[in-house]
Amino acid sequence: MKILSIESSCDETAAAVVEDGRQVLSNVVASQVEEHKLYGGVVPEIASRRHCEAINGVVKKALEDAGVTLSGIDAIAVTYAPGLIGALLVGVNFAKGLALSSGLPLVPVHHLRSHIASNYIAHKELEPPFLCLVVSGGHSHIVEVKGYTDMKVIGKTRDDAAGEAFDKAARTMGMPYPGGIHLDKAAEEGDPLSFRLPHPKVEGAPYDFSFSGLKTAVINLIHNASQKGISLPVNDLSAAFRKAVVDSLTDNFIRAAEELGYKILVLAGGVSANSLLRRRISEECSKRGWRCFYPPIELCGDNGAMVGAQGYYEYLAGNTASSDLNARATMTIE
Ligand code: KG4
Ligand code: ZN
Repeated sequence: MKILSIESSCDETAAAVVEDGRQVLSNVVASQVEEHKLYGGVVPEIASRRHCEAINGVVKKALEDAGVTLSGIDAIAVTYAPGLIGALLVGVNFAKGLALSSGLPLVPVHHLRSHIASNYIAHKELEPPFLCLVVSGGHSHIVEVKGYTDMKVIGKTRDDAAGEAFDKAARTMGMPYPGGIHLDKAAEEGDPLSFRLPHPKVEGAPYDFSFSGLKTAVINLIHNASQKGISLPVNDLSAAFRKAVVDSLTDNFIRAAEELGYKILVLAGGVSANSLLRRRISEECSKRGWRCFYPPIELCGDNGAMVGAQGYYEYLAGNTASSDLNARATMTIE
C-alpha cells in the first residue's frame, strides 16, 4: 500500500511516498529555517505563508521522486495536530483537496505519533510494545507505545520542552536558531563539570520533567557575567547545560522502564538527534541487556516519511477522516 504523506506543522513543508509503512520511496523537505533565523525563532504568520507557496511543488516532487502519479497512490496522510494552527491548516486543506479530487481515503496523523514512527522506517524489526522518549521543540513525553495506535503518556514536562530549553539557552549564548544542534556541537568540546547547574526533579511525579528553572539558571549566569564585562566559556557552559538536560531525561526514562518492565527503549523527535542523549541511553540499555533504537539523524527532525509510516498503521486501524477534518493546535498523543 502506497501512502502520499504531507507535513506542515511547524517550519518544514514536507511530503513523501511510503510503502506499507516501512519503505520510503521519496522524502522531500523544504525548510524555512533560514528565514526564521532572522527573528531568532519561528514566526507563525511567515511559516503559514511559506507553506502555502511551497506545498504544491513539494508534493509534486515527492510523487516524481517516487516514480508514481496520484493514480498509483492508495491513501493520503496528513499531520493535523499538534502544531502551529495556521501552518497545519495549509497541509490539512491541501490534503483534503487532493483526497476529494482523487477519491482517495484521507488519514489524519498526530505529529508526535509520526515522530515515533520514524523508527519503523529505520528499524524494520521494531514493533510495539516499547517505551518511547519523545523529545521535540514543543514536547517532552515518556510514552508507553502498547500498539501502533495505542499509547499512554506516563511522564511529561511541566513547563518548557527539552528542545525549547536547548534553543533558548543557545540563543542566550549567541547561537543561531534553532540552537539545539549548535549547543550540542559546542558541548562536545566543553567540560560538563565546569559549571554547577540545577538538576530539576518534580516532587511526587518521578517521570515528569521541568526545564524552565535550568534554562533560567543558565540565562542568569550569562547575564550576570555580561553585566560585569565577563564572557563565559560557551563550550563549557553548553556541556554543563546539555548534561543537566540529558541526565534528567535519562534518569526518568530508565526509571520508568525499570518500574514498568520495558526492555525495548526508543527515542524520537528533534532532540533525539542529541549526541549525548543517544550515547547515554545506548549505554544504560546495554548495561542492562535491553535494546535501544533511535532514528537516523535525517529522520529526527520533521519530515513527510514519518507521517506516511504512522499513516499506514492509522489506516489499518480504520482511522480515516471525512472532508470536514480540521487542524488542532493541541491534542494528546493518546
Ligand atoms: O521534532 P522537531 O524537529 O520539531 C518539533 O516538532 O518541535 O524538533 C526540533 C527541536 C528544536 O528545538 C531543535 O533545537 C532540537 O529539536 N534539536 C536538538 C538537536 N537537533 C535538533 N536539540 C539538541 N541536540 C541536537 N543535536
Ligand atoms: Zn516535530
